[in-house]
Amino acid sequence: MKSDEILRRISELKEEKNAVILAHNYARAEVQDNADLVGDSFALSQAAVDLDADMIVFAGVHFMAESAYILSPQKTVLLPDADAGCPMADMVTVEALREAKKQYPDAAVVCYVNSSAAVKAESDVCCTSANAKEVVAAIEENEILFVPDKNLGHYISTLTDKKIHFWNGFCPIHQQITEFDVLTAKAKHPSAVFLAHPECRPEVLKHADGIFSTAGIIKYAAAADEKEFIIGTEQEMMHKLMKDSPNKSFYPVSKYAYCSTMKMATLPAILNALETGNTKITVPEDIRVKAKKSLDRMLAAVPK
Ligand code: 13P
Ligand code: SF4
Repeated sequence: MKSDEILRRISELKEEKNAVILAHNYARAEVQDNADLVGDSFALSQAAVDLDADMIVFAGVHFMAESAYILSPQKTVLLPDADAGCPMADMVTVEALREAKKQYPDAAVVCYVNSSAAVKAESDVCCTSANAKEVVAAIEENEILFVPDKNLGHYISTLTDKKIHFWNGFCPIHQQITEFDVLTAKAKHPSAVFLAHPECRPEVLKHADGIFSTAGIIKYAAAADEKEFIIGTEQEMMHKLMKDSPNKSFYPVSKYAYCSTMKMATLPAILNALETGNTKITVPEDIRVKAKKSLDRMLAAVPK
């Protein structure tokens, strides 16, 4: 099928099924261009609740579709490719988390949204990269077990006096961005502002002029007076950055920062999802209810 025919069928089926396409900022450019909303993990979770739709097709990874279902179980949530996972989310299991909780009985468990529903259910509160600082500040406890991203955990520890225990998880895509990459890019573009995602290593973040979620990076770049930016996150971000700020220049800090599972939601896969209803993402009700508490506490900690 030709791409214009695919797009025409997608739009017909969306109307027929009252469906919306939510795309993460790392989704394929052509998918972003045909989505109802493009955003960071936080905006997409909020949209899952707020949007008046019967069906959500998630152009992102598994934990995002799961979060949408947890928050809005009356909607049908589809992940176009069931194999689109997040390796970092798989770095913490419920069993391992239960063991760690025994080791730190007084700590509140804060879990990054990049985690399974079962891990969210076992945690006290969830956070995204857009609100981790506010979430940590809002909880009563002064001791925190932060899972699974050690880099985000480390970054938050620089913004709070609370004691944070880190998990040994990381995003493989951000982890391979090195300090050498940053210094090389800065030498090549000495006037550029360096904006980084907090999933980057501490030695990368220490050179950043701004540390934000994906949506935060896009917003900052659009509003800034500066014209040149080195971008410390996944490459597909270039698409929205250039679309929103066509008169500015953006340089990816590393050409290797590419999240392949985020690219599995192709236009043909989205069409197939709308046609077949595959793959439907659900969570067992007992886990969903507990995981929802963690997500609700996060949403309550951040003003809308
Ligand atoms: P945000 O879009 O929330 O910044 O997260 C980045 C990410 O890696 C999502 O998997
Ligand atoms: Fe997971 Fe990293 Fe891909 Fe985000 S970029 S989905 S954290 S592997």
